[in-house]
Amino acid sequence: MQKIAVYPGSFDPVTYGHIDIVQRGSRLFDTIIVAILNNPAKKSLFPVEDRLEMLRDSMKDIPNLSFDIFNGLLVDYAKKRGAQAILRGMRAVSDFEYEFQLALMNRKLNRDVETVFLMTGMRWFFTSSSIIKEAALFGGDISDMVPPKVNERVKARFKQLKQ
Ligand code: PNS
Repeated sequence: MQKIAVYPGSFDPVTYGHIDIVQRGSRLFDTIIVAILNNPAKKSLFPVEDRLEMLRDSMKDIPNLSFDIFNGLLVDYAKKRGAQAILRGMRAVSDFEYEFQLALMNRKLNRDVETVFLMTGMRWFFTSSSIIKEAALFGGDISDMVPPKVNERVKARFKQLKQ
């Protein structure tokens, strides 16, 4: 049986932390579906199509990936795609409570889908899309946390929004 995992997230934008998790996860699963939540209620920096494009480009060298956009319940999406697992990265202690809640709720909703956590690489322990956006908004350098093309697009987007 093929081992399939969904790696869900907002990816607004993708960071080296996300890439690290998918890279390592790709050695454990036959296929990873990188799935962006399309949540119109959540204000995002990039439209979902731009996030998808950046994800595809940043992960183009990782084998056995597919990319998608989903809405609704994650476990329903996982079931629809034939995935047995949800892959999540766990950073510093602050992630724990939220991730624990999410995993327990998902298990309650569907016991057939397991959440698998990979510990974020040491280098990316404090990297998050939100902190990157805040730094970039005020002109901070984020070049060691996101791929060069993402860095350029974040800068361009803020410039555009300020006009
Ligand atoms: O990158 P994020 O914002 O931490 O990802 C959160 C995500 C997309 C994994 C989570 O919000 C999610 O799965 N949303 C879909 C709705 C759902 O199934 N929620 C969990 C059970 S209520």
